Amino acid sequence: MIYESVTEELKERFREAWAVVVLTGAGVSAESGVPTFRGGGGAPVWKGMPVEKIATPEMLRADPVTFWEWYAYRREVIERAEPNPAHRAIAAWEEYFERLTVITQNVDELHQRAGSHAVVELHGSLWRVRCLQCGVRSEDRRVPLPEIPPRCPSCGGLLRPDVVLFGESVPEAIFSQAVAATATCDLFFVVGTSAVVYPAAVLPALAKHNRAFVIEVNPETTPVTEVADATILGRAGEILPLFSPRENGARGE
Ligand code: OAD
Repeated sequence: MIYESVTEELKERFREAWAVVVLTGAGVSAESGVPTFRGGGGAPVWKGMPVEKIATPEMLRADPVTFWEWYAYRREVIERAEPNPAHRAIAAWEEYFERLTVITQNVDELHQRAGSHAVVELHGSLWRVRCLQCGVRSEDRRVPLPEIPPRCPSCGGLLRPDVVLFGESVPEAIFSQAVAATATCDLFFVVGTSAVVYPAAVLPALAKHNRAFVIEVNPETTPVTEVADATILGRAGEILPLFSPRENGARGE
């Protein structure tokens, strides 16, 4: 069913839930000024190449400078970005439910910056790097980077961002956490994702299969719309704050 806004019935579903999962994609950070990959008629291109070609292990090896220029640019955009009302609403929900798990495809850490604690990062984080030579992982928040491509401080090897690149798989242990939370929730939100990238795309159907109520929030319909109990057509930063657990004498008051 398609909705233009949040109805009383949907608010009631929300207030009665115990274990909630919020699956997010690039759209949840759009209102923070971080460009999405798809939707709205545009797809990112860097130096005339689609990002699907740049953000790959092949490009990292063949042309680490171009590869890292793209990631350095993304780090600059994301460093300037602030969590928006959608990130903040999700973080505030944590206090109310028995369990609230955020599963995100984003690598920007804006959920954590808004205060969310239980965040499963399906595609990793732009603020971690990994050495291709010695394998050491470390946090790296330098903007701008002192050299492109950046080198490992311990061994001098080429660094890569600790993210899932196009053509790579989500680490099994991370995906298992996402599956476990999804299979045992009673309310599942899908926010700001085109829901075409696997394996994240299977999670809404898994939630539904396990009898969770599925609410999608997106200005456009997506393949999830077929599965969702409710699709609310709207921007995450405007819709999510309308779900307030404290309204109308919520549980625990
Ligand atoms: P996409 O860029 O594919 O989709 C963004 C979605 O957000 C679209 O469905 C938009 O309609 C929606 N959207 C735009 N503005 C919004 C707003 N203000 N509120 C709510 N929704 C909004 O992003 P993802 O689905 O996250 O993977 O893409 C998944 C993966 O594709 C990314 O993580 C990335 C890419 O390949 C990797 O880099 C491995």
